[in-house]
Amino acid sequence: MTAPIVEVDRLSKRYGRVRALNEISFSVAEGEVFGFLGPNGAGKTTTIRLLLGLQHPGGGTARIGGHDCWTDHVAAAKLFGATLEQPALYGFLSGRDNLRLFARTLGPVDEGQITKLLDLVGMTERANDKVKRYSMGMRQRLALAQAMLGKPRLLILDEPTNGLDPNGIHGLRILLRKLAEEGMTIFFSSHLLAEVEELCDRVVVLHRGEVKAAGPLSELMNVKGFQYRIDVSDVDEAMKIVRSLDGLTVEPGTIKDSILVSSDKDMARAINHALVSAGIGVDQLVHTQRGLEDVYIELTGVAPGSPLSSAPAPPPPPATPVGAAKP
Ligand SMILES: Nc1ncnc2c1ncn2[C@@H]1O[C@H](COP(=O)(O)OP(=O)(O)OP(=O)(O)O)[C@@H](O)[C@H]1O
Ligand SMILES: [Mg+2]
Repeated sequence: MTAPIVEVDRLSKRYGRVRALNEISFSVAEGEVFGFLGPNGAGKTTTIRLLLGLQHPGGGTARIGGHDCWTDHVAAAKLFGATLEQPALYGFLSGRDNLRLFARTLGPVDEGQITKLLDLVGMTERANDKVKRYSMGMRQRLALAQAMLGKPRLLILDEPTNGLDPNGIHGLRILLRKLAEEGMTIFFSSHLLAEVEELCDRVVVLHRGEVKAAGPLSELMNVKGFQYRIDVSDVDEAMKIVRSLDGLTVEPGTIKDSILVSSDKDMARAINHALVSAGIGVDQLVHTQRGLEDVYIELTGVAPGSPLSSAPAPPPPPATPVGAAKP
């Protein structure tokens, strides 16, 4: 693993009586696409505001490229470009003039770069319209171009898909992947799990100001061990056979003539052998990875985007170290 470009160590933040962050720690390696996941109110934007040096941390430290984000903000700020939930843009200026204005704060304005960035985020056609006439998605696109103006090593994006249409989301995904291939580190906050699943190498799951899990997605999705879907000739008989084996749980599958088997360790061959020996036809045995969404709901107790998200959530389970077997 390369040296971390972001290092967060026991970072805390309170707003009056609300404890928005409670001693969170994580790091982001240079060059990785990092997903920062959590339901509404988890503390994602608060963390990002602290990284950007917009707020004073109540405790702990945040560093970018080794520079403290609060006491050494100027040095840290040279390394990143960022977008926040509500892009701060001048409504009375055109998109292009907004970019010119921000570019001027970084040095001589490079018109060629501005034209290229407008094209990259699909805003060429509307570049000369005033930003106050932009839709939410257009503002997001312009904010992304603005974040890339300084050719940053690190791109911090707070829910960048908010307001984007499916084409925009698809385009953003392609763009971020390309930037990552060129060596840019991407810090991507989201509650859109499907996107994180497709895009990110590693995630941190935040809930109520605490880190609930951290690690590569492949490990996160296997917290609970192994799961198989087996297509069989006789579901009832197959369930009986599997139940007689140690350490397995079994339930009827959602697909016709199938069963779902879970296990702490890899039992594929043993299960297959037992079924075939008992005269049951096995048409297919497939490893099914648990979806990230299942893990997310389990960790946060909240279905993303569900009406329940704003109701009191059931008590969250204790933090699960990724890769470790659950008791
Ligand atoms: N300026 C503020 N004053 C008071 N409380 C705040 C303020 N900003 C955030 N909070 C509280 O801090 C907690 C974390 O909020 P934050 O905005 O960081 O969450 P988030 O993960 O970004 O959520 P979302 O997905 O809705 O954007 C919440 O309980 C929120 O109500
Ligand atoms: Mg937020």
